[in-house]
Order: sequence, then structure tokens, then C-alpha cells
Amino acid sequence: SLLVASLVIQLITAMASGGGGSSGATSSMVAALKKYNAMFTFGDSMDETGNICAASSNKTELDVLTCTHPPYGETYFGRPACRWCDGRVVVDFIAQALGLPFVPPSKAKGKDFRRGVSMAITGGTAMNFSFYKSLGIEDPVWNHGSLDTQIQWFKELMPSICGTEQSCKVYLRKSLFMFGGYGGNDYNVQLLELGLTPLQAMNYTPKIVTAIANGVEKLIALGAVHVVVPGIFPTGCLPIFLSLFGDAASETDFDGTGCLKPYNRLTEYHNSLLRKQVDALRRKHYNSTRIMYADYYGLVYQMIQEPEKFGV
Ligand SMILES: *[C@@H]1O[C@H](CO)[C@@H](O)[C@H](O)[C@H]1NC(C)=O
Ligand SMILES: *[C@@H]1O[C@H](CO)[C@@H](O)[C@H](O)[C@H]1NC(C)=O
Ligand SMILES: *[C@@H]1O[C@H](CO)[C@@H](O)[C@H](O)[C@H]1NC(C)=O
Repeated sequence: SLLVASLVIQLITAMASGGGGSSGATSSMVAALKKYNAMFTFGDSMDETGNICAASSNKTELDVLTCTHPPYGETYFGRPACRWCDGRVVVDFIAQALGLPFVPPSKAKGKDFRRGVSMAITGGTAMNFSFYKSLGIEDPVWNHGSLDTQIQWFKELMPSICGTEQSCKVYLRKSLFMFGGYGGNDYNVQLLELGLTPLQAMNYTPKIVTAIANGVEKLIALGAVHVVVPGIFPTGCLPIFLSLFGDAASETDFDGTGCLKPYNRLTEYHNSLLRKQVDALRRKHYNSTRIMYADYYGLVYQMIQEPEKFGV
């Protein structure tokens, strides 16, 4: 939770300085950030604020989700809050820093979504399930909440958030869109379910990154102006990858930090292509949008290298 807080502080600083910048945020910049009327979030389990739970009323199914049991939620909410975390997730910290309420899940009934809503759902992918079906996957990971589906959920909610198409254009230009990080589950499917090597998975990276960029275009067409597009975490440092692939790896596969280099190379490749697409989108929409790449990889890697700097 401390790690997440540090990540968010650095992210907010980068946003305040115009995205990708490294200069520190001044208080007037931070004050300017508080002017967002709402925050709309998309993504996967990293950004989950309750959709996976709200989507089912079947107690047996809900019980299977470990995030519905302690110790999830114990350090902040005091109860499991359908987040894959003992406290808050990144978008929770951002909402608080911007003076906005926590984003309710879009599947929640009877909520007011005018100040924000989360379309993110555990298992969310950049690619449609039809793509994975064509690769031989029979069931989606958890759900069918791909990027296109999430944009569709958002479109369906728009009338209740901002009214007509025209009034939405006016409203949404003052909102913050957090688009992802998408991609983590796309690689999980390939590496963990299909058993592809990181090198083989790279073949699909251009498709995945293009799907994310096309998603940003769709949001812009709906009226989005401020859009944060995060990269993905260093896969080769994640415990699940270390425990599944660490034993079979050779000594030269590990970097000085103890992360698996072949998996991190895949993530770096994804993030570098994504960054190029974000730059291209910025150039294309330079006079009407503010599209920001968020470097989750660099921040998380720094925390793994120097945990003591982050209080752990
Ligand atoms: C709840 O889900 C379980 C597991 O998917 C299923 O076996 C059961 O029939 C469902 N119960 C109801 C009431 O739908
Ligand atoms: C997902 O499928 C729909 C139609 O089924 C298609 O229009 C869309 O382009 C697909 N999206 C991606 C990211 O492949
Ligand atoms: C941005 O530029 C394009 C053409 O270069 C123009 O059509 C559009 O109206 C401009 N938008 C704004 C918000 O100035």
C-alpha cells in the first residue's frame, strides 16, 4: 500500500507537469489538477473497484473470489472492498489526490456516476475474446470485459452522466480518463495459458498496442481530452512469474535485481511500442487533447531496486 502511494505521488507529479515530464509539481499545478469534474477509469484487476463482484449475485461465485475475504481491504476500508489489494488501488489514490470520490463500479445499481465510474474489471484484456478463441483459448479469464466491451459499457452510461452527445462533449472535456494499463492479461493468457515464450508473445504486441491506441481514439471521439495511458508492470519481477519460471531459468536470465530478463524484455517492448503510439496520438490530436503516458514499469522497477527509499 505504501508502494502504491509512492507510485501515485510520482504519477500525479508527472501529470501535473504535463505528462512524462520530470520536473516537480508546484502547488498551483496540483491545484489545477483538482479542476476535473470526474474521473472515468478502464482496465483490469489493477484498477478493479468492484465490477467483478457487482457482476454476480451468486454467493458461491463471489466466495471463490479471494478479494471478497480478509485480508483484502484490511488496511484502509476495514473490510474486503472487492479490490485485489489490502487497501486502495492506484485509481483510489488518484481520486483522493484530485478531490474526487472513489470511482464506483459501473455494474453497481443505483449509483450516481456523474463524478466518475470504473469500467475496469478483473481479467480485462486489450484484445477481444474472439482473438484468444482463434489462438485456441476456450474460456476467457474471469469474464468478457475486454477494452471494447468496457468502452461500450461507458457509452451506455453516458446519457445518465452527461445527457446528450453534445452536452457530453462539453462535460467530458473537463474529466480525467485513466485508460488501463491494458496488456497485462493479454500476456498472461499467452504466457500462462498458451505456454508461449516471451519471444513468441512479442509477435502479438503490435496488435495489442494498436488495440489500445484505437481505444484512446474512441474515447477522444466521445469527447475525452485528458487521457492517461499507463504501460504495464515489469512482468519478470512479478512473484507469479518468478515462481513459475524462475526454477527453469538459467543464471544469466536474471538481472542484478533478481528479475527475469526475458519477461521484462517483453514488457519493455510492449511499453516502448505503446509509448510510440501515444506520441503519434499526441501529434495527431495536439491542439485538442492532453494524452499522457504513465510509466508504471519505471516506477515499479525503481521500488523493487530500492525498496528502502519507499519505506519497505
Ligand atoms: C451459483 O454458481 C454455482 C457455480 O457456478 C452454480 O453451481 C450454482 O448453480 C449457482 N447458483 C445459482 C442460484 O444460480
Ligand atoms: C472486437 O470485436 C469487434 C466486433 O466483434 C470489432 O469491431 C473490434 O474492432 C474488435 N476490437 C479489437 C480490439 O480487436
Ligand atoms: C485542431 O486542428 C484541426 C486541423 O488541424 C482543426 O480542424 C480543429 O478544429 C482544431 N481544433 C481545435 C480545438 O482547435
